[in-house]
Amino acid sequence: MATQPLFDSSRFDPERVALPGIESVRGIGKADAAVIGVVESNRHPTLIGTTSELESKAAKAGGGLLALLSARGATGEVGEVTELHLPALQLVAVGMGDDLDLRPEDLRRAAGLGVRQVMQAGSAEPRRIVISLDAGADGQVQAVAEGALLAASRFRKLSRVAESAPVETIGILGSNRSSARALAAARITAQAVAVARDWTNLPPNLLGPSDLAEQARGYLKDSKVELEILDEKALDKQGFGGILAVGGGSARPPRLLRLDYRPRGTKRHLVLVGKGITYDSGGFNLKPADSLLTMKHDMAGAADVIAATRAIAELGLGVHVTAYAPLAESMISGSAYRPGDVITTFDGTTVENTNSDCEGRIVLADALARTNQDDADMVVDIATLTGACVVALGPQIAGLMTSDDATADRLLDAAEAAGEEFWQLPITEHVRKLLPSPVADLRSKADRNGGALFAGAFLQHFVAEGTSWAHLDIAGPAWNASDAHDYVPAHATGMGVRTLIELAKSMAG
Ligand code: BES
Ligand code: MN
Ligand code: ZN
Repeated sequence: MATQPLFDSSRFDPERVALPGIESVRGIGKADAAVIGVVESNRHPTLIGTTSELESKAAKAGGGLLALLSARGATGEVGEVTELHLPALQLVAVGMGDDLDLRPEDLRRAAGLGVRQVMQAGSAEPRRIVISLDAGADGQVQAVAEGALLAASRFRKLSRVAESAPVETIGILGSNRSSARALAAARITAQAVAVARDWTNLPPNLLGPSDLAEQARGYLKDSKVELEILDEKALDKQGFGGILAVGGGSARPPRLLRLDYRPRGTKRHLVLVGKGITYDSGGFNLKPADSLLTMKHDMAGAADVIAATRAIAELGLGVHVTAYAPLAESMISGSAYRPGDVITTFDGTTVENTNSDCEGRIVLADALARTNQDDADMVVDIATLTGACVVALGPQIAGLMTSDDATADRLLDAAEAAGEEFWQLPITEHVRKLLPSPVADLRSKADRNGGALFAGAFLQHFVAEGTSWAHLDIAGPAWNASDAHDYVPAHATGMGVRTLIELAKSMAG
């Protein structure tokens, strides 16, 4: 008897990314676990979200809740976790610092930290969690729900050994009837992040260019997003020389996805481009062993734009969104592109391939050049583009480069609302002067120093002058190489999805 495949790339499986239910609740009810907060107020710990129901359970356990938690060392410091076992209830108190004016991101992190702690606890299976963090306003309810759902989403291992049961429902205490919309929005957002994470975590043998294209087809099938898939023949006919060059070394041919969400009566047009290298071996400029191991995540940008576009459609945002995902696998073979090759991109620019490991900017060049036909109000590309950006900003902050300061401000505002961190880097005259090649219009690589800026300058060449454009380099934060923290799991993080959704929101009319 043939066993079922562990992952069938030809169809999208919603089970892989199933999230717990989310609802508003009026009490602890039959929950297995509850999450509350502790803040430092005048250097004394104070509880956030405690209720008379919790206090009476604490009384049965021998004291007031604050006294019991303090006895276990709770101070309210950010990131601190204190656990109490009350009658039939696991209580988790998370430290939230001394800031009484809590930002949405503080609530996201606290909810995420609490949910992760409950899920780790292991003993009895925690099926129902109630989160009580005094969230009243809709924005606060949404942040708490997002943090909780993002923490609850986890990668379904490729294994036949059964895993422990997932969390069934998350109840938000303090929310009211008008919170229904906020909870629905949180769910749509968290679902998009979960899908982006899952695709990014899937191994490269199971997710090549055409596989990711089929995943996108299945995922978008019942949505208001139209999908067009260009195969290698169509790419050749239309002149996508960059995508074909990068994908040429692989037995699995490249693809270009074009997604379009166009609700009635929209005035503004946002165009997204996401780097989709399903595996980056470096090509003939082969990467060292340690870097090879995680280069399945080099399609995180593509996953982000696909997931975000569906979420934007589900939220019904009044903005026209087009998204491109150039998908290719960068391999070594007799048909691979060589260092020294000159490539002609979609707009006729010639590029000397000075290093085959610069594959990202080559596929993005084609897609960015294609966006010039879309009459966009803003073009945003997102890519795990340079190690240099990780050196500059570390593993948790993404780089931002733009055509102008107004565009940078728009992106930074969206990122702030989403709770994702970006830091602006310049594209200087000096770095632009490094672009020309002695044998072609451009070269794909110059110095090692300032590598993130050179990549930004290279990409900007392909965007028509006068277009508002932003480049997001997520090489660091797309992948969490250390342990889970707050609502961020180890490995793929889905970083960028929430900022793209917020950006669309800010452009919606
Ligand atoms: N995908 C990598 C960038 C990357 C590095 C992503 C680390 C995530 C973590 C990209 O294609 C690449 O190889 N960039 C080279 C460019 C260099 C050859 C100019 C790099 O950063 O080393
Ligand atoms: Mn590379
Ligand atoms: Zn790459």
